[in-house]
This record gives sequence, structure tokens and C-alpha cells, in this order.
Amino acid sequence: MQIVKLGLAGFGTVGSGLAKILAENGDWLGKRLNKKIEIKTVVVRDLTKQRAVTLGSGTELTTDLDRLTNDPEIDIIVELMGGLEAAKTLIEKALKAGKHVVTANKHLLAEHGLELFELARQNGRGLYYEASCAGGIPIVQTLRESLAGDRIEEILGIMNGTANYILSEMTTKCMDFETALQQAKELGYAEADPTFDVEGFDTAHKLCVLIRIAYGVDYPLSQLPIQGISGVTPLDIKFAREFGYRIKLLAHVKEYDGRFEAGVHPALVPYTYLLARVGGNYNAVRVVGNAVGPVMLHGQGAGDTPTGSAVLADIMSIARIMDGATAPDNTGFGDMPLQRADIMPPEETMSKYYFRFMVADKTGVMAAVTRSMADHGVSIAQAVQKGEKDTEAVPLVIITHSTTTSAAEAVAREIDAMDFSMEPCVRFRIL
Ligand code: NAP
Ligand code: HSE
Repeated sequence: MQIVKLGLAGFGTVGSGLAKILAENGDWLGKRLNKKIEIKTVVVRDLTKQRAVTLGSGTELTTDLDRLTNDPEIDIIVELMGGLEAAKTLIEKALKAGKHVVTANKHLLAEHGLELFELARQNGRGLYYEASCAGGIPIVQTLRESLAGDRIEEILGIMNGTANYILSEMTTKCMDFETALQQAKELGYAEADPTFDVEGFDTAHKLCVLIRIAYGVDYPLSQLPIQGISGVTPLDIKFAREFGYRIKLLAHVKEYDGRFEAGVHPALVPYTYLLARVGGNYNAVRVVGNAVGPVMLHGQGAGDTPTGSAVLADIMSIARIMDGATAPDNTGFGDMPLQRADIMPPEETMSKYYFRFMVADKTGVMAAVTRSMADHGVSIAQAVQKGEKDTEAVPLVIITHSTTTSAAEAVAREIDAMDFSMEPCVRFRIL
């Protein structure tokens, strides 16, 4: 039986998840592929570190990344280190050396994907990345293959396991933010720098990657509106519940006649929606195609074997085309150059909003707030003020009807500057 040899860069959460699955399902894979998949070399930073999985005696453990690119026996290099520089250099060397590459590195693909895909195309090599978006959920394959014939109208989803875990624990167990984040780190869900999870950047990286596959356009990361969950407090979770919502960190993109609205935001989701029920490290992505209609995928968005499963699916896809008869189509758009996305301005993007102002409990405050909203054309759907003592800041919560992003921003700026505002307002979208 032909042996497909892997060079693994990184043996942390995802690398060891992949090794676990290969050990458990190896015979099954051999039957399906008629090829055996073997890890030949593993590269890490610290050779003395205790590993979650014991490598076979035939596998070399080293700190030298060139051992992967210089080894003619290695067919596929699997990049599971994360980060930018070392990963980019490795992938470039691998593609130039004629190796196929599998990566889970959404940060790298969001920042440098265009040049790496071009290099892969020039070298006729696979650069596969199922694990980069939403962990174990097969969203890359779904957009690139299964829904390739549809015009994608909208993608909406929860795409970060760590943020969803934190919000779920805060909502269902009243756990504090820091404890929930610490648990997510211990469970292997968080990025090396968890700011990426908490501040929405990781979700934004994934969204940029998915926009390319769904629409064949480049939506620059630098132009994507990104808001994380660090501003979500137990008070907002409580108010959201009272109004019939759960707070979720959402990524969304919608096409309007060739123009795009996209972003990453915490949002209030009606508690009856499936998205509101997605708990823990789970992710869910809803795609609407013009032919298929809405499709919803749900599964673990982070963790060792869920993510390892997505990495392995890519390895198997490459193993099937390694004979060279079929050229890999990494982006799903062949040789087509990606155009820059035409981005809708905030004066035209619409949403309902949740505002929480912390105000002095005194005469005229409600009137001033509602006047500011009216002046900016923002229509109020519901309002509640929970004041007890006139000396303290009290929360004033307003739910609006649909309004433009720019009007919502103007209202926030104006009311924050009023003398009764005790702290900057909290503003989340409502689905
Ligand atoms: P991790 O647990 O921190 O593991 C990273 C591994 O890479 C470690 O084994 C580390 O070596 C090695 N490494 C880092 N820099 C290196 C370098 N310059 N040279 C050699 N080895 C290096 O990370 P992870 O959670 O597995 O994530 C890996 C990638 O998968 C990231 O791109 C991440 O965004 C992505 N991802 C993760 C998940 C998840 O659930 N964790 C899900 C989807 C995608 P040492 O062990 O010696 O430190
Ligand atoms: N840190 C990421 C998350 C890993 O929590 O979703 C999966 O991409």
C-alpha cells in the first residue's frame, strides 16, 4: 500500500488531536484511501515538553523546520504552529519544494492568503485549510464544493469557540468572564494570544477567508468592522434575557447587488433562534444560497479532535489527488483573480440596536435621550430604566427599530457627551 508521509509543524492542541485520530482510525483510512497516512517528522519549539500523545518510534521529533521542506519523502506539510512569520516562511518553502500544504492558520490566510494561494497555484500544489474556519465544521468544503453553483446571499454565524464558551458560561452559570476564559484556555480552545478570541479578531480572520470562498472577492481585514466581547457585562446578559435574547458573538456578510456588508459584533439573538441555542465551544454557520436556500451547519468550533478531524479531511483530499491527474483548486475560483470587495458605507447598513446608557437618575434625562434619538431618525421600540437611588448611575436600556449604523453611532456619541452620562454607553446589534 502506498504511504503518504506527513511533516507536522506544531504538536500542540490540534497537532496532537490529529495524531490521536490517525492512531485510532488508521486502518479505516487505509481502507477508504487505499493509502496509509504516516507522520514522519514533527517539529516543535521545546523538545523537553510533555506531550498529550506519544509518537511512534519511527517519527522524528525536532526543532528544525527545514527538516520538513528538505525531506524528499515528505508529501504533505501540515502547518499547526499558528502565528505569522515562521508559518508563512514554512508554507512558502514547502510550496516551492513541491509539497502540498494543509494549515489551520486563519490569521495567516486572512493576512497573506492571496499571495500564498497564488504561490500554490504557480506550483500546482494544494493549500488546504478546512480547519481554519469554525474548527470541525466543514464550512470551507461546503462553500468551495457543495454550494459552488449557488450565488451566496448571506453568511451568518458563531465562529469562535472560546468567545461562545465564555458567553455561554456567563449566561447559563453566571460565571465571571476571567474564569470562563481561563477554562477555555485549559480546554485548548483559545489562541496563543486569547485577545484574538475575545476581541473578535479570530472571528474576523475566519470571515475574511469565508468571504473569499463564497464570493470570490477580497474583503480586506483592515476594513472589516470588528467588535469583541470584552464589553459584554453580566448586566447586559441579564437585560438581554429580560427582553427575550441571548448575546452571541456573530460574524456576518451579506451581498446587496455586488456590494457587501460584513462585520463581527456581539449581537442580541432572539432566544428562540437556533443560533441562540449554540452553547459552549460549539459554532454554527448559516449560509443562504439563491438556489439551495438556508443551510445551517453546527459542530465543535475548537478543540483537539474536532479540529484534527478537519485537518485530516484535507490530508485525505490531497492524498486522493496526489497522483497529479487533478490540479488542486484551493480557492474554488481557479485562476480567476480576486477583485477588491465593494464595501457598503455605514450610512447604508441597517440594524436594530440595544443601547445601555448609565445615567444620573434625574429629571429630563429620558427626554434628552429620546430627543437625541428622534433628532437622528432613530425610532425606539422599547425602553426601560431601573433606578433606585437618585445619587447613583442607573441603567437606561433602549431597544431601537432598524436604523443605520451611522445614526446609531451619532446617537451614542451625542448622549455620551451629555452631562448626565456617567460612562460610555454599551451598544450591540440585534438580530
Ligand atoms: P498550540 O497548542 O499552541 O500548539 C502550537 C504548536 O506549534 C506547539 O507544539 C509549538 O511547539 C509549535 N510551534 C509554535 N511555533 C513554532 C515554531 N516557530 N517552530 C516550531 N514549532 C512551533 O496551538 P493549537 O491550538 O494547536 O493551534 C495551532 C493552529 O491551529 C493555530 O493556527 C490555531 O489558530 C489553529 N486552530 C486551533 C484550534 C484549536 O481549537 N486550538 C482550532 C482551529 C484552528 P511547543 O509545543 O514546543 O511549544
Ligand atoms: N481559538 C479558536 C476558537 C480556535 O476559539 O474558536 C478555533 O479556530
